[in-house]
Amino acid sequence: MKLLVTGGAGFIGSAVVRLAMTRGHQVVNVDALTYAACLDNVAMVADSPDYAFEQVDIRDRAALDAVFSKHMPDAVMHLAAESHVDRSIDGPADFIETNVTGTFNMLEAARTYWTAQGKPDSFRFHHISTDEVFGSLPNDPSVQFTEDTPYDPRSPYSASKASSDHLVRAWHETYGLPVVLTNCSNNYGPYHFPEKLIPVIILNALAGKALPIYGDGSNIRDWLYVEDHADALLLAVEKGAVGRSYNIGGENERTNLELVKTLCAILDQKRPKEVGSYADQITFVTDRPGHDARYAIDPSRIREELGWRPSVTVEEGLAQTVDWYLDNESWWRALQDRHGVGERLGVKA
Ligand SMILES: NC(=O)c1ccc[n+]([C@@H]2O[C@H](COP(=O)([O-])OP(=O)(O)OC[C@H]3O[C@@H](n4cnc5c(N)ncnc54)[C@H](O)[C@@H]3O)[C@@H](O)[C@H]2O)c1
Repeated sequence: MKLLVTGGAGFIGSAVVRLAMTRGHQVVNVDALTYAACLDNVAMVADSPDYAFEQVDIRDRAALDAVFSKHMPDAVMHLAAESHVDRSIDGPADFIETNVTGTFNMLEAARTYWTAQGKPDSFRFHHISTDEVFGSLPNDPSVQFTEDTPYDPRSPYSASKASSDHLVRAWHETYGLPVVLTNCSNNYGPYHFPEKLIPVIILNALAGKALPIYGDGSNIRDWLYVEDHADALLLAVEKGAVGRSYNIGGENERTNLELVKTLCAILDQKRPKEVGSYADQITFVTDRPGHDARYAIDPSRIREELGWRPSVTVEEGLAQTVDWYLDNESWWRALQDRHGVGERLGVKA
């Protein structure tokens, strides 16, 4: 397939681009190159005749129309978004413009192109979303998010993603656009931008800085290795049923404190300190406003209908991630100067 991937210079989008190309797909990477982007993430495929890059902002409808006409994709995988909850608390406008209006533009550009092609059934608009649209769960293992869980977003980020999910469903119901949706839990792995929890912990640990834990560290997340997510996304675009959504999760629930302690234990083994443990650097800081208590995904549908399973446990994935950050210092050093990185964001509220 020729895949038009938006956000392909970001963390998850670049994993999708790299995996799609090893599986024989052609890729058109559409990315505005915001602060969160890094073209090094896709440098290994950049010279391939099966790869094209377009620096285009999804808020620019005319530019999107030109990309569709030029490249004539078989499917869209829409990942471009503002993605950091803390930034959405300080500056929600960008989240509305990119995640809501940008998705509207993508839907309209895709619909115009698909209609001009004679509305082929084989076309797909795959919208990549988050489990955060479902809100916050109690700490009760018998309750998980399913595809039927009512939406209850609680941050500007999750509300903007929920809005975009509703638009995508509406374009299917109203115009017949062949869409598929996926809602995934927290990702981690190589090329994770150094403002997110796991890279912050690894890089602060190595720098001898405090390891900040929001609140008391009891918030629970369901962690998934990014390459397993990319694998699930390719299955969904290739084989997912039209109009259907699939929840994707690693079945790896950990409190933030447990996760950070695991990372410290891995670092203690791989890069021991002269004295003590990296866990000695753990520091509790003011909680995020409206911090969701627990996310947990029931991935039964994608497992049973599409045969997807994660390939690594969270311990294996975290060890691989730590190795990657230890081996790729030039990658993360270059990103640490970007606006807001290393600052505490999202507490102004
Ligand atoms: N990171 C997670 O744990 C997670 C979990 C579930 C779902 N998601 C979703 O997956 C998608 C990708 O997340 P990520 O973590 O890779 O994000 P990211 O912030 O690392 O990357 C986002 C990419 O989108 C691009 N982008 C942003 N605004 C744009 C615009 N207006 N026009 C064109 N490109 C623009 C950026 O330049 C960047 O390359 C998002 O839609 C996010 O909501 C993320």
